[in-house]
Amino acid sequence: MTSAGLQLVRERLSGTDCVVTGGLGFIGSNLALTLADAGATVTVVDDLKAGHGGDRANVDDKQVAVIVADVGDPAHVAPAVAAADYVFDLAGQVSHVASISDPERDLALNTISRLRFLETLKRVGSRARVVYTSTRQVYGRSAPLPISERTVPHPSDVNGVAKLAAEHLHLLYARERTAILRLSNVYGPRQHLRNDELGVLPVFVRRALRGERLVVFGDGRDLRDPLHVDDVLDAIIRAALVPEAAGQVINVGHHEVLSIKQLAELTAAASSSSPTVVHDDWRSDYAQVAIGSAHLSSSLASTLLGWQPRIGFADGIDRTLAWFSQHPERFA
Ligand SMILES: NC(=O)c1ccc[n+]([C@@H]2O[C@H](COP(=O)([O-])OP(=O)(O)OC[C@H]3O[C@@H](n4cnc5c(N)ncnc54)[C@H](O)[C@@H]3O)[C@@H](O)[C@H]2O)c1
Repeated sequence: MTSAGLQLVRERLSGTDCVVTGGLGFIGSNLALTLADAGATVTVVDDLKAGHGGDRANVDDKQVAVIVADVGDPAHVAPAVAAADYVFDLAGQVSHVASISDPERDLALNTISRLRFLETLKRVGSRARVVYTSTRQVYGRSAPLPISERTVPHPSDVNGVAKLAAEHLHLLYARERTAILRLSNVYGPRQHLRNDELGVLPVFVRRALRGERLVVFGDGRDLRDPLHVDDVLDAIIRAALVPEAAGQVINVGHHEVLSIKQLAELTAAASSSSPTVVHDDWRSDYAQVAIGSAHLSSSLASTLLGWQPRIGFADGIDRTLAWFSQHPERFA
């Protein structure tokens, strides 16, 4: 986050009570630490689901309170959310491949648990401002580019359906104080690198750190607009603070659009191990959830939130590799 952005967080969120679901995961832990640094009282709710990005080491217990529980568990969640001024709802199943191999689990985690979470917020009479992180994947394949919020979603896998349902549940329960953000691919410090199903960027980062070849499936011409996590935190916090964001579904992507092949080449170029980039045939389970080219128009985020991505990929991947180089236990 920029120093101006951090200043905004300090001024507005210092002394407030914030809950971050999924706060032991990649984006959630970075958010929890930023809020705590700004002087907010932060409680994380995360049950360290197997196969996800949650890691106890992502946050410092001295900085944030940690409740290890499913967001759908009212006994643990109600006391945490009762006094919250802001609820950042980031918990979720993020693997598209896993949503095909175990569709019921995806619906259970992204939709049923979320419904129970919203019931708990209702029962405790919460008046918190809520931000829910959804995904560009709700638009599915072949959406006209760049994808705007006016594009009708046609999810092409169970994860997209479950996330879209969760968006609607959030707006049904508290439209007047909830903002929905549809994020493009996110990368950065604290991302889980070991599970190949959590996205192409963490796989490239891990392989670059280990000095292994970066494997691009197919010709690698599909386009993406990846975001450094600091830019995402900026968007999430603005969505919580700007009153007009309530009731809105807002795309959050980058104006820098690159092919998967270029992302691999830039990652390789930033790595001290100088890995090679090679091409291979698509794995069949990955091909099933492939969406072709996809990048977002973020003009609503710009006009409504005053948000712009500030970190280009070459810079962002450089920072990311530098951070992980200081934390070798995360990719060994
Ligand atoms: N990383 C990306 O590229 C990306 C892109 C688009 C959207 N998103 C969204 O951002 C959010 C955070 O993603 P991330 O990359 O940090 O994922 P992550 O896997 O690193 O973190 C998710 C966390 O949620 C927890 N969790 C999952 N279901 C839970 C439940 N029912 N109760 C309690 N905890 C639960 C997991 O244990 C994990 O720690 C998700 O909602 C995801 O859909 C991420």
